[in-house]
Amino acid sequence: MASLPSPHLFPSAEAASKALASEIGELVASRAATGQPVVLGLATGSTPIGLYAELVRLHRNGLSFANVTTFNLDEYLGLPRDHKESYWHFMHDHLFDHLDIPREKIHIPDGSIPEEDLPNYCSEYENAIARSGGIDLQVLGIGRNGHIGFNEPGASSESYTHVTTLNEITIADAADSFGSPQNVPVRAITMGVRTILEARRVVLLAFGKSKAGIIRRALTPGVTSEVPATYLQLHQDVSFFVDEEAGSGLREQLGPE
Ligand code: GLP
Repeated sequence: MASLPSPHLFPSAEAASKALASEIGELVASRAATGQPVVLGLATGSTPIGLYAELVRLHRNGLSFANVTTFNLDEYLGLPRDHKESYWHFMHDHLFDHLDIPREKIHIPDGSIPEEDLPNYCSEYENAIARSGGIDLQVLGIGRNGHIGFNEPGASSESYTHVTTLNEITIADAADSFGSPQNVPVRAITMGVRTILEARRVVLLAFGKSKAGIIRRALTPGVTSEVPATYLQLHQDVSFFVDEEAGSGLREQLGPE
């Protein structure tokens, strides 16, 4: 049994984002110094926007990302790349258009793959991760229902990249950006729980009061498929970077100051 993921409580989302950006920056620079690549697993959602802004700032200050390969966690199925809610669009807008990562090293699941090609496409995504040497550091957010990527309540711990159906809480949370719940795609391609657990290090970011309950649950001993983030308790090197609000239920886990 692995030890519980360690929570790091930051005074603000900005401080947490800066801490993770500087960890990533050091990893990228130290590997570059010895001519080695770095493989990053990346997430979408509002939570990592500050992290991406900080990585862009590091790049503007001289850090090259030319040795970086990226794999995104997930993508809505049925959305073309240029749809404003596609994760392809999100990632280019917030990060990739501003860094020097070679385009062929950027991997985001393609939401426009025809139905009959999806099984092969998903195994090929997984093969590409393996061929790259595996993910060094996986960035995660968390859904209010405990999802990681689009691994929804009920997800198997053994899943690799696959097609999934979105949970009603996930659809409700995405409804505003899509204009209405009816416009939210019902399916997505997502890395599986096993894919995430195979990353060498995982950092989960969570900010704001709406995440306090699920962060407390994710860090309470007990692994259950009903709260996929509890699978992270099985990983040897995972940190939760949370702000005061998201960490407000963690007093007992953190112990006395
Ligand atoms: C989406 C993404 C997740 C993300 C979650 C939380 O459903 N698929 O990867 O962690 O939303 O989003 P937010 O960061 O906006 O709270």
